[in-house]
Amino acid sequence: MKLRRSPTLEIGEKIKAASLDNKKLWSLSTPNLPSYNDTLSTDPSWGKLTHPAGMPELIEHTKSTLFNNWDHNEHEVIISAGAKSALFAILKTITNSQDSVLLPSPTWPSYFDICKVADCQPIEMPTHFSNGFNLDLTEIEQCFKVNKFKVIIFSNPNNPAGIIYDSHLLSGLVQLSKKYGFYIVIDQSFSKIIFDEQKWSEATCEISDKLFIVDSFSKNFLLQGARVSATLVPKKLAENFTNIHQTILSSAPAPAQIMALNAVKNNLKMPSLIEQRKETKKFMESQNWDFINQVGSFYYFPKVKNYSELERKALKIGVLLLKGDVFGKDYKDHFRLCFARPLSELKIIFNQLDDVLNGK
Ligand SMILES: Cc1ncc(COP(=O)(O)O)c(C=O)c1O
Repeated sequence: MKLRRSPTLEIGEKIKAASLDNKKLWSLSTPNLPSYNDTLSTDPSWGKLTHPAGMPELIEHTKSTLFNNWDHNEHEVIISAGAKSALFAILKTITNSQDSVLLPSPTWPSYFDICKVADCQPIEMPTHFSNGFNLDLTEIEQCFKVNKFKVIIFSNPNNPAGIIYDSHLLSGLVQLSKKYGFYIVIDQSFSKIIFDEQKWSEATCEISDKLFIVDSFSKNFLLQGARVSATLVPKKLAENFTNIHQTILSSAPAPAQIMALNAVKNNLKMPSLIEQRKETKKFMESQNWDFINQVGSFYYFPKVKNYSELERKALKIGVLLLKGDVFGKDYKDHFRLCFARPLSELKIIFNQLDDVLNGK
């Protein structure tokens, strides 16, 4: 099996490589996050393996901090080494070789790769900018009739569109999954980066034994390097999910779980990005770019008139962008715009971009 480099992580690698050569590059498509805001003294117990499903205390805390929107009586919380390993374990738990996985797009590119390592067939189902990238239940039902997919995976809030799917859509999906027998995976890895709290608090539905909810400490609690996530797994599948994860990783790293526990106990989540979001909206309006008003995650997914020219001009000033077709085949006129970086840095990038784009 041959796999590509992660297109989203690759951009960060380019920036690090350039800085070793004393060259300054920026990425306007990936974050430059602050660090975990605490120090912990290491302890010999950190070298010990935890329970395969994770530290009981961390599990308890995730129920009220990450999964407070959900009734979790019929599910187990299982801690894994990042959302990526949780998604892999889910697919290996519920699919057979070459089963189809429905990925409504625009979508996180890693889902395609995780399907591939899990020996599944990803099927992309595009949604439309003109319709706010909303998901259509009738279209999903039609798609099931043609493709008989085993599971649908999407992120909520959506990366890269920044939209939040509401309870009407989620409840409708649960009804369809009961009718046709497919599973649903909701990846809420940006659950703490929300700009419409009301909408987010309502973005829930009746729980079902066909439903998995994945959350991650990577972005929500600034622990991307630690590798720790939590998943609500239907009770009857929890044992096998844990065994699959244990087979490849034994457990999520103990030091990472201790950092995650400290983060949830002390509310060390991502600081507010309201100002950055405002500045970004203002900049996009000044450039006459079309965009949907994002309400979650730290991304916009604007549509521009001439992406190649934008990319070429941005590169002139050392700004790297991720083209929309990384997120789905219909989005070559879009790009992912990430505003998770210090406001001062964002302003520098926007000023320079404005100069190079508008010939000042
Ligand atoms: C949609 C989505 N899910 C999950 C993650 C986090 O994955 P992990 O927990 O493996 O770092 C990200 C991070 O970029 C993401 O964009």
